[in-house]
Amino acid sequence: MASITYDKATRRYSGTERPAVDALDLEIADGEFLVLVGPSGSGKSTALRMLAGLEDIDEGAVWIGDRDVTQLPPRSRDIAMVFQNYALYPHMSVAQNMGFALKIAGRPASEIKQKVLDAAKLLDIEQYLDRKPKALSGGQRQRVAMGRAIVREPQVFLMDEPLSNLDAKLRVSTRTQIAALQRRLGVTTVYVTHDQVEAMTMGDRVAVLSDGLLQQCDTPRALYDRPANVFVAGFIGSPAMNLVAAKLTADGAEVGGVQVPLKPEVRSAADGDMVTIGFRPESLEVTTDTDGSLPIKVELVEELGSDAYVYGKLGAGVEESAEGSSRNVVARVDPRTPPGMGDTLHLRIRPDELHVFSGTSGQRLS
Ligand SMILES: Nc1ncnc2c1ncn2[C@@H]1O[C@H](COP(=O)(O)OP(=O)(O)OP(=O)(O)O)[C@@H](O)[C@H]1O
Ligand SMILES: [Mg+2]
Repeated sequence: MASITYDKATRRYSGTERPAVDALDLEIADGEFLVLVGPSGSGKSTALRMLAGLEDIDEGAVWIGDRDVTQLPPRSRDIAMVFQNYALYPHMSVAQNMGFALKIAGRPASEIKQKVLDAAKLLDIEQYLDRKPKALSGGQRQRVAMGRAIVREPQVFLMDEPLSNLDAKLRVSTRTQIAALQRRLGVTTVYVTHDQVEAMTMGDRVAVLSDGLLQQCDTPRALYDRPANVFVAGFIGSPAMNLVAAKLTADGAEVGGVQVPLKPEVRSAADGDMVTIGFRPESLEVTTDTDGSLPIKVELVEELGSDAYVYGKLGAGVEESAEGSSRNVVARVDPRTPPGMGDTLHLRIRPDELHVFSGTSGQRLS
């Protein structure tokens, strides 16, 4: 087992304007489960492949434990990777697939057999060891791919969207299994996904990437409670945090004619004359008080059983914009008494659940 360090690691593909991964600084502790998350094209797979040795590192360095592996070929890095498509050999049985790397390494047959059996027991695929991959379900294939990584007893597991071929229900149960298995084995793991729910439920910490740049790396709770900028604020959480433009006033900010008090230190940290204020759908209360509340015209009501979400827009008077802001607002309401479409709801933001970001840079001020 080992820690991992990205030290200003950069990957620049020829013929592209911006690096796919730009001066990435990241330290991953021994035994940690770190999730890399971000939208499509943000550089997640590239960052993982740089660690695996499948992609050149143009600037900076990558360390595994106390070894600088920047120039080492993949086979010398002591890592095992699980790919999205699993890449199982179709002509080999499950047992042969799982034991292949050990066979290539010239390990004795008895040892390979034992290790394959141990891993198969761990993953509950013992009964399939003689089958070919084509005779397995997607979830079973996924476990064979995991098994193949486990038998190698690497210092580091790397996984690139390993659940994306599974249906929604299986994805949920498999993500719990992978997280539990990782904790049991204690092997440092870097896991790539574009799904923020997967990231939040699996990772000890989550690193959020956008356009090749690391936006924030922290525990799921910290990302949710204190996003560092409007990108993370809008990316983590479902439905997303509301981000609206507000004009600075003497001691606060004004949005749609409503005064939002800001703490003095936040007010003085603001640059320019606009801020972006953020509040999550659950931080809104429906009120009958038309004074000091935000009026929203209801465009859509989404009833999920346990919750109902109301989608609407801030009314006229909110013409200005600020970094990351929009006029769309989502509110969580009591599912037993949802409003109707076209209704006007008055919403109050719970003041201690307000996030404030710079209207120009999008960086957190509060
Ligand atoms: N071989 C390549 N040559 C040139 N550009 C590339 C190459 N591979 C990836 N890129 C570019 O680098 C950027 C990052 O790609 P990467 O595959 O790391 O994204 P990702 O975050 O894994 O996205 P996804 O969620 O879609 O898998 C993208 O803009 C992509 O177009
Ligand atoms: Mg990818």
